[in-house]
Amino acid sequence: MGRVATAVDRQFDMLLEIPDDARRKLYEAMRHAAIGGGKRLRPLLVMATARLFNVDDSCALRAATAVEALHVYSLIHDDLPCMDDDELRRGKPTTHVAFGEAAAVLAGDALHAIAFELLADERTHHDPFVRAEMTACLARAAGPSGMAGGQMMDLVAEKSTFDLPTVTRLQQLKTGALIAACVEIGAILGRVNSEGRTSLRGYAHDLGLAFQIADDILDVEGDEEKAGKALHKDADAGKETFLSLMGLERAKDQAQMLVDQAKSHLKAYGAEADLLRAIAEYTIARDR
Ligand code: IPE
Ligand code: IPE
Ligand code: MG
Ligand code: MG
Ligand code: MG
Repeated sequence: MGRVATAVDRQFDMLLEIPDDARRKLYEAMRHAAIGGGKRLRPLLVMATARLFNVDDSCALRAATAVEALHVYSLIHDDLPCMDDDELRRGKPTTHVAFGEAAAVLAGDALHAIAFELLADERTHHDPFVRAEMTACLARAAGPSGMAGGQMMDLVAEKSTFDLPTVTRLQQLKTGALIAACVEIGAILGRVNSEGRTSLRGYAHDLGLAFQIADDILDVEGDEEKAGKALHKDADAGKETFLSLMGLERAKDQAQMLVDQAKSHLKAYGAEADLLRAIAEYTIARDR
């Protein structure tokens, strides 16, 4: 994780060189959000999956940076006053607190665009079909049937009573879709056809749900210092989550069950998938 984090930081540092003109503040806001912080779990997932299929690390790193750029955009917008209204992210002031709302909205927009620019770039993969497939995959994961749709449901969840299947769907879209796209993109880079990705999809699906349950558990019993963000937000907002529906203990059992299930999807792989197995364990053992 540390190595991937350093490599992703370096990519953003190169991509976001501050221009000597009136766009300076936009770049500063993007750098503030994108560089120096975060677990970089999504890039790690792209890299770990790509490695299963012997993809060149420098290509995988560019695709990994694309997914992280999309994730960072989602965090900037998630923290805005019109969404979760948060002031701390990754141990730093949120982008709108540091640079103002307008620059934060634009920094999110620009990182969103950069994500697709990276995937469409010849240096990420020489085959245009691979590039198109990765681009479509990320677009689906980010759009109304993915993250944006889940974020809408999440806002509605503050004012409605959702049942467990609905909360599960919310989480799948809000967080699971992008996590699944990481694994999918790693396999696309490795030229695995859609059928050959079935077991990896099962892994990613269970991992995504476990990840969001862990985020909700951290919101209740985590340490703000370690998490680098304000906690106890969900209950305060009256938001329906796995925890509000199941209680802490059952939610923890469910998360562990999902991690075991995620790993069981990797049965066909040997030691080369150990990193993916370790990522699954980390997903619920983490304290940030
Ligand atoms: C936080 O994601 C937002 C959710 C989707 C729950 P992460 O927990 O991966 O945040 P960073 O990237 O490490 O800051
Ligand atoms: C954010 O979910 C999910 C996305 C940004 C898509 P949360 O609102 O639960 O994330 P945190 O807790 O602020 O990191
Ligand atoms: Mg939110
Ligand atoms: Mg939030
Ligand atoms: Mg949360």
